[in-house]
Amino acid sequence: HTAHLTIDPAFRVAPVRRRTFGTFVEHLGRCVYTGVYEPGHPAADEDGFRRDVLDLTRELGVTTVRYPGGNFVSGYRWEDGIGPRELRPRRLDLAWHSTETNEVGVDEFMRWCAKAGVEPMMAVNLGTRGIEAALDLLEYCNHPSGTALSDRRIANGAKEPYGIRMWCLGNEMDGPWQTGHKTAREYGRLAAETARAMRMIDPALELVACGSSSSSMPTFGAWEATVLEEAYDVVDHISCHAYYEEKDGDLGSFLACSTDMEYFISSVVATADHVGAKLKSRKRIDLSFDEWNIWYLSRFQNAPTPADWPVAPPLLEDHYHLADAVALGGLLITLLRHSDRVSAASLAQLVNVIAPIMTEPGGRAWRQTTFHPFAQAARLAAGDVLRVEPVSPVYETAEYGEVPLLHAVATHDGASTTLFAVNRSTDRPLSLRIDARALGGARVVEATTLTDADVYARNTADDPGRIAPRPNPDVEHDPLTVLLPPVSWNVIRLA
Ligand code: AHR
Repeated sequence: HTAHLTIDPAFRVAPVRRRTFGTFVEHLGRCVYTGVYEPGHPAADEDGFRRDVLDLTRELGVTTVRYPGGNFVSGYRWEDGIGPRELRPRRLDLAWHSTETNEVGVDEFMRWCAKAGVEPMMAVNLGTRGIEAALDLLEYCNHPSGTALSDRRIANGAKEPYGIRMWCLGNEMDGPWQTGHKTAREYGRLAAETARAMRMIDPALELVACGSSSSSMPTFGAWEATVLEEAYDVVDHISCHAYYEEKDGDLGSFLACSTDMEYFISSVVATADHVGAKLKSRKRIDLSFDEWNIWYLSRFQNAPTPADWPVAPPLLEDHYHLADAVALGGLLITLLRHSDRVSAASLAQLVNVIAPIMTEPGGRAWRQTTFHPFAQAARLAAGDVLRVEPVSPVYETAEYGEVPLLHAVATHDGASTTLFAVNRSTDRPLSLRIDARALGGARVVEATTLTDADVYARNTADDPGRIAPRPNPDVEHDPLTVLLPPVSWNVIRLA
């Protein structure tokens, strides 16, 4: 198998959007409790945050973190999570059939964000609540002082306003599972009125309206159109959510799952632009792909609902293998390729819950296989995204028909260029010829590959380094050719 592509800085798509490397912390399972927060853990700092998780978060290169949900936010009363801990109520969390202790709330989250060096992306509850609660939270967070709510924040220890810029107007309101689920028209009206009111406090906010929970929702396409008809002028982004898993041992289709993400993005861009045209608007709505990942959702759906409303039960704790990491790398490539319209994204989620970072309560923390493609891309994607137009052999998949074996994108920043490439072949290496003449004599300075003879090999607490990027020995310089192993994620740096 051979494939080829051309890297030329003239073929610019858009700048690399730093917010592409966002993640998500939801009050769900062990993401917050025994994930980011575990007072009494040997690695806990003075605020109860796990230092080992903070270190891994920084190493992962996370830029933004969406909070506090997710399905959780649609029943959340944010006021429960502020003030003295001993006075905070315990509540039923309907989304995950758990008990929420409210030990962590917005002030703790913002302290954690400062330590992790990430930008917060705050979600408001448009399920059981509405405009007033959203305005109150905004005033509490962002107003400097001199009002009841801003002074309460100061009394709770945060003198300076948080200045949170990005706000999600609810979560997955198209889903019948959502507390307070709405029709597109109902949600569109509520999102528009909430956005209008929030902009009266701060016109510069960046607001995200809920799009579809997946491209297979019966309302996909129509939902976005109706919501944007109502809210076009007052929002900046429409959200997309997508999760993928290997089904019935069909690895070939699974490795091609970014085909669905490509379809998702181009459909939502077309829908948003259609509404813009009808409204005679020159404004463009961008996409916030604020939930994406590999998730063995069918396993979760078949699992029993936790009995007795437990506190922080282990939920959605998928243990990822090599093929999951390669599929995830393919999704990242797709997000980067669409940087002209996808201006933010959040890998869902950060710790324990379908996450790149795993922890044991009271014990170790380690990197899942999926940690690596994300961390490499967050670290090395820089400058501009380049279109590389790969010419590749194709293979037949049950789910998506013919799909190219090679999936790739490049970024270019002054003197250095990075190519990210996935070989989707389940059984053969792919010889990739790179035409880099436009880079004026640049040579490969580093080539790594993430692969394994066992595509189902995983990292564990006892063997955390089983799957990690290793130097790719199969690089030839003249002509520039790199051999990509079957089922592999590859990073090639030229300078
Ligand atoms: O990330 C897990 C869940 O997936 C989120 O709570 C919800 O928004 C989505 O359905």
